[in-house]
Amino acid sequence: MSVLIKNGRIITASEDYTADIYTEGEKIVLIGKNLNVKADEVIDATGKLVMPGGIDPHVHLDMPFMGTFSSDNYETGTLAALHGGTTTVIDFILQTQGKSLLSAYETWKSRADGNAYGDYAFHIAVTDFNDEVKKEIGYFIDELGITSFKTFMAYKGALMIDDRQMTGLMEEVRDRGGIVTVHATNGDMIDYLVAKNKSEGRLAPLYHYLSQPEITESEASGRFADMAYNTGVPAYIVHISCEGALSAVRRAQARNQIVYAETCIQYLILDASLYEQNFEGAKWVMSPPLREKKDQAALWSGINQGSVQVVATDHCPFNWTQKLSGKDDFTKIPNGHPAIENRMELLFSEGVNKGKISLNKYVEITSANSAKIFGMYPFKGTIGIGSDADIIIFDPEEEHELSVKNHHMNVDYSGYEGWKVKGKCKQTILRGALAIDNGKVKIKKGYGKYIKRNKTNKI
Ligand code: URP
Ligand code: ZN
Ligand code: ZN
Repeated sequence: MSVLIKNGRIITASEDYTADIYTEGEKIVLIGKNLNVKADEVIDATGKLVMPGGIDPHVHLDMPFMGTFSSDNYETGTLAALHGGTTTVIDFILQTQGKSLLSAYETWKSRADGNAYGDYAFHIAVTDFNDEVKKEIGYFIDELGITSFKTFMAYKGALMIDDRQMTGLMEEVRDRGGIVTVHATNGDMIDYLVAKNKSEGRLAPLYHYLSQPEITESEASGRFADMAYNTGVPAYIVHISCEGALSAVRRAQARNQIVYAETCIQYLILDASLYEQNFEGAKWVMSPPLREKKDQAALWSGINQGSVQVVATDHCPFNWTQKLSGKDDFTKIPNGHPAIENRMELLFSEGVNKGKISLNKYVEITSANSAKIFGMYPFKGTIGIGSDADIIIFDPEEEHELSVKNHHMNVDYSGYEGWKVKGKCKQTILRGALAIDNGKVKIKKGYGKYIKRNKTNKI
């Protein structure tokens, strides 16, 4: 299959120019003005932006969590991602405490194999670090291409590790050339506040928010960064939501330490006032919770100042019946919200169109930086000769409305119902195949490929 994209405005993390792109097989083969080549598919991109496919490094597909499973699987989740311009996702394998990393890998692999539309890679969450697990780290990096090790400082009893385990893991990952990532919130403080609210009869979704004050995140982010500094391991904090966590990241970066920060689209554009509406607020029950307007402002500035490198989604959808398990008790509401399909368009509309970020910054934080940090650059995350032909053709002017009625995610509500968005992904090309063409799916389930990743690149 060959594709010729004519006359588009090509944007990468560092370039902005108008040219044609010719792809053959899975790769970009030619870029130039007025290319005179025949192709199976010709796309006129005049007036459109032509950008690298989005990479969402934080999604949870088909994940067992809080007594249920996230409602998008590899099929529905990666297809929805393609509709919204994301061509590659990185999902989280969760180790079961008491078991090996490899057994968790095999479970996740069997869920994903043959089912994905879009490309996918894995992080491995280490929830029980011991001498046996230590021996598996090198194998994951060198043989499986899983170079990022996720840790949780919360969700005690299921996912959380203590600081002793964290330090041991960091040393091993450092020696093997990987990166440690973290959900940085103080689990014990949160558990105390949750129990207190519950015992005093405060059970509405609002108390999910009030049980996770900013300090629980800033404290854990600082502690994690200090442990990473002490061990010398490259580090990455997922889903930072607040000014306090950002300040901890900045302090660490100021001492010339590699600590990357990811935020998510929801923390940039939604705020905690959504919890003030009885049970409806369950739609946004996630951890960390939505924060304040001042936190949004801090995160936007963190992006522009280079302290925050990635905008992801933490896509972890649950249908309304699943959310209803917590109708009388916020602690039973499965944590997470849907956004895999919406991230690229929302960030464009709210970020680029509203003048908060430049087009190059947009590509940097939606694609290029994830590719670099997680060992996929330059075969993904850019438009260049020899790179995978993962390309989106994006109309910066088209206005549309986000709704459960038109989204493709397997979830029966939208966290952004009625949001008016300017900017639409018109075509998505994945490894040279026109995957989505004006809303129509052109590839088959199983086209999505497992991406074996390299060691992290410094950015
Ligand atoms: O609420 C969330 N974020 N659910 C998914 C699990 C996690 O903590 O990332
Ligand atoms: Zn998390
Ligand atoms: Zn997550």
